[in-house]
Amino acid sequence: MTHRVPWSAQHKKLTANTLFSLSNSFAEPLSSDELIELSLKRGDHEIVEQYQKHSLRYTPNGGSVDLRIEIAKLYGPDIGPENIIVFTGAQVALQTAALAIMGEGDHAIVFSPGYQSTQEAPLIAGGTVTRIKLKPDEGWQVDPERVLAAIQDNTKYMVINEPYNPAGTLMKPDVQKRLVEIAKENDIIILSDEVYRLLEHNEADRLPAMADIYDRGISAVTVSKPWGGCGITIGWLALKNMDIKERIKDMQYFATACPSRASEIQAIMALRASDYLLDRNLEIIRKNVALLEAFIDKYDDLFEWVKPVAGAICYIRFKGPLTSAELGEQLAAAGIGIKPAWVFSKPGTTDSGYFRVGYGESIMTKALEALEKFVETHKGEWSDRMNKVR
Ligand SMILES: Cc1ncc(COP(=O)(O)O)c(C=O)c1O
Repeated sequence: MTHRVPWSAQHKKLTANTLFSLSNSFAEPLSSDELIELSLKRGDHEIVEQYQKHSLRYTPNGGSVDLRIEIAKLYGPDIGPENIIVFTGAQVALQTAALAIMGEGDHAIVFSPGYQSTQEAPLIAGGTVTRIKLKPDEGWQVDPERVLAAIQDNTKYMVINEPYNPAGTLMKPDVQKRLVEIAKENDIIILSDEVYRLLEHNEADRLPAMADIYDRGISAVTVSKPWGGCGITIGWLALKNMDIKERIKDMQYFATACPSRASEIQAIMALRASDYLLDRNLEIIRKNVALLEAFIDKYDDLFEWVKPVAGAICYIRFKGPLTSAELGEQLAAAGIGIKPAWVFSKPGTTDSGYFRVGYGESIMTKALEALEKFVETHKGEWSDRMNKVR
């Protein structure tokens, strides 16, 4: 039996005691008090009362209708509450969808580096995958020609992630359109992990949701990221196709089919406060990106990146004499958590020198100061080592 070790679990062991986190990928974390305050400020006394007095019966399989109504408002007119399946987070949604769609012998197309579940859920479901490599010198863009070349007779599924974790980049709109065309022509279901959608640093860059533009498309979202509500543990899938929806809902039955009602109500509160929360979180994000850009400019002999345009994450290359794994270990020893390249690629992949930095939280500035201090302490020694190699 294969023991599948989560890539990020190994990283968490390394950074368990770090004081400064540049590892997180969510926006400013919410508190329960804040959600109640925001609801009362809006005059939404009813939702607060529901939170205090709700029944602890099972919620309906796939989520209560009031939450699904709130979620459906994020999409176009073809997506209603009946097109939403609620999960206890996006991770379990990704896995359940793969289990429902992929059978033994089915093939999926996925992209690497990337969040492990976007690459491996189809494998865990018993299928095979082709991992298409994304490259920094192509702006981490998906090349539709490579997707076409990867299609096999048994290709059933493709998993994309836009905005893209780890780099915080966005697919070009014409690439998204082309992928949908390719999927239509080849009868492939696309799951688009859109957990960082709504956090485009410039709203004009936002791509349409996959659920809105493709009748065999699925959008995966979570309140963990844009709303900063990881502890709410509510995510969802939005999709038009009712056959696929029923298959996924049936598969969900064998895991957590009924989310906690307290979580559902908190998710409703967060969604109803979206205007305020997303504006506030984007303000923090924009400030932090500017600080990171100043850092990269100041140390451009040591670091480079494809500047992020969405989400709360970026992927930075260390040009000094350490792999990203070694840098991650040394930073962890100095109390700073980052995510080295190995967290995003299958074991055995060559270390690209890239590491992921998260910038969604206001306390990130302290972590960046600590990183800068670390760089100041070590840059002389790195420069000596690099000169010796030359
Ligand atoms: C790309 C991506 N998808 C899904 C998830 C899982 O989200 P959740 O916290 O809702 O399980 C994450 C969390 O880091 C993520 O980065």
